[in-house]
Amino acid sequence: MSATIKVLGIPGSLRAGSFNRMALRAAGELAPDGVVFETCEIRDIPFYDGDLEAAHGLPASVVELRAKIHAADALVITTPEYNASISGVLKNAIDWASRPPQQPFDGKPIAILGTSPGALGTVRAQAHLRQILANLNGLVLVQPNVMIGNAGQRFDASGALVDEPSKEFVRNLMVALKTFTLKMKG
Ligand SMILES: Cc1cc2nc3c(=O)[nH]c(=O)nc-3n(C[C@H](O)[C@H](O)[C@H](O)COP(=O)(O)O)c2cc1C
Repeated sequence: MSATIKVLGIPGSLRAGSFNRMALRAAGELAPDGVVFETCEIRDIPFYDGDLEAAHGLPASVVELRAKIHAADALVITTPEYNASISGVLKNAIDWASRPPQQPFDGKPIAILGTSPGALGTVRAQAHLRQILANLNGLVLVQPNVMIGNAGQRFDASGALVDEPSKEFVRNLMVALKTFTLKMKG
């Protein structure tokens, strides 16, 4: 029997019609055998507020997200690009989840993926996301880089990724994530 890993997908957009949620769906569908894929939402996470944390500790939505990250062998994080960086909601979710002790990104294999209607396909946002996760000792896959530009032409009306070259990039990303995660698990 081949080894199985648990992967948690985190979408960096709240939008119902989010291309990045579609990309996350594609990551789950195109993952190799032996990947159990689950996605979560970051919609219920409040703005980070140190006063709130000091008075009440972590909100339930953050406790839940942290537990899911801890339980996963690896993560896939999709990010939109907003003004050449990651979305505010994703940064906010990472900030909350990263609070000590035992911040859950530490030593976690992570694949990042992004798509935008523009030609650059989140290249600038992904560079920032790498930097943020490196600060948390997240083990972001060095290669492949997967940026899906011109998103409006890559997904169909049902939200399925239908562009064959893009599907191949996502497939390769998920194979690389599985291989890397099994190596790290020893
Ligand atoms: C405030 C704002 C800033 C944006 N800045 C960029 C940008 O810098 N680069 C880019 O490619 N797209 C940019 N866009 C367009 C987003 O890529 C597009 O809205 C995308 O569909 C958002 O991701 P989602 O479909 O997953 O929600 C921006 C959109 C908004 C609302």
